[in-house]
Amino acid sequence: MHLPDKVAICEVGPRDGLQNERVNVPTAGKIRFIEALAGTGIRRMEATSFVSPKWVPNLADAEDVLAGVKRPAGVAYAALVPNLKGLERALAVRVDEIVIFLSASESHNQKNINKSIAQALETYGEVGARAKAAGLRLKAALSTCFGCPFEGDVDPGVVVRIAEALVAMGVDEVGISDTTGMANPRQVYALVSRVAERIPLEKLSLHFHDTRGAGLANVLAGLQAGVTIYDGSVGGLGGCPYAKGATGNIATEDLVHMLHEMGIETGVDLERLIECAKLAQDLVGRPLEAHVSKAGPVHHGGLGSSCR
Ligand code: HMG
Ligand code: MG
Repeated sequence: MHLPDKVAICEVGPRDGLQNERVNVPTAGKIRFIEALAGTGIRRMEATSFVSPKWVPNLADAEDVLAGVKRPAGVAYAALVPNLKGLERALAVRVDEIVIFLSASESHNQKNINKSIAQALETYGEVGARAKAAGLRLKAALSTCFGCPFEGDVDPGVVVRIAEALVAMGVDEVGISDTTGMANPRQVYALVSRVAERIPLEKLSLHFHDTRGAGLANVLAGLQAGVTIYDGSVGGLGGCPYAKGATGNIATEDLVHMLHEMGIETGVDLERLIECAKLAQDLVGRPLEAHVSKAGPVHHGGLGSSCR
């Protein structure tokens, strides 16, 4: 198996996780959550979105969250931005990274940001240029790369063309995303290999939802294809409000646990991450479905008499 020695994790729980919870976590709870995550060794997280509060009411307090949160050096705070209005809001509270977002299928793109793919690329050309001029890192999250809940199969050629257009526009990272958990490992390996023929592998990251239980298997395929950046959401929080049946992302603690067990470094403290998952559970008021928070990490020395 060809595997990387190190992987970078981007935590998306405060954004992808909380955007779709039934409960709107109060601002103070979001701040506690983000500050706890910053204490785990995670170096990058999506803290919120500067989108229309009518479309995503749970993140309407984006300014208050970023103004209130203590931001230790060495942790980068990213936010989703759908247009120039969102960019101005994000610049006003000094985020470190702008995440523009669109889909590889027209129907999902229309439902999510009310634009065609061509219109989105045009808007993001301007948003991206301004973000770069302000010295910010720029990521593009590309949804429905492995299938669309409205259209079904998505042509890998379309994913490649959009990814190329985004890189030509100056993005530092393209997040190949499986919005509603339609991907399988063979497909992941094939799509990543194809995209990597046209854009540098170091610019690719993977974002999996665990809707059908294939999330970590898809990570393994991504690792074998050489991708070294993965998104996760503590506790498996999350989903997409404009894709029916979408559930949470892969749980960050399950991801980190698997990587550490495989001898792959992440720089993340697993015990602290599990504490964050418990906090997330308290904040949203429902049990979260991640595995490692429930079972605990593997004990290589065995558990002795406490093992039932
Ligand atoms: P629209 O209705 O076409 O926009 O929505 P508009 O320009 O006509 O504006 C409508 C109203 O929204 C106006 O207010 C604007 O001022 C306001 P009104 O005059 O009616 O009072 N508005 C804003 N307010 C605050 N901040 C803004 C903003 N923009 C407009 N930035 C729009 C278009 C893009 C705004 C809307 O569709 C939207 O906000 N969509 C966001 C959807 C979203 O956040 N989805 C979830 C994130 S994507 C995701 O989860 C996938 C991902 O995880 C990867 C994966 O898993 O695939 C990333
Ligand atoms: Mg997502």
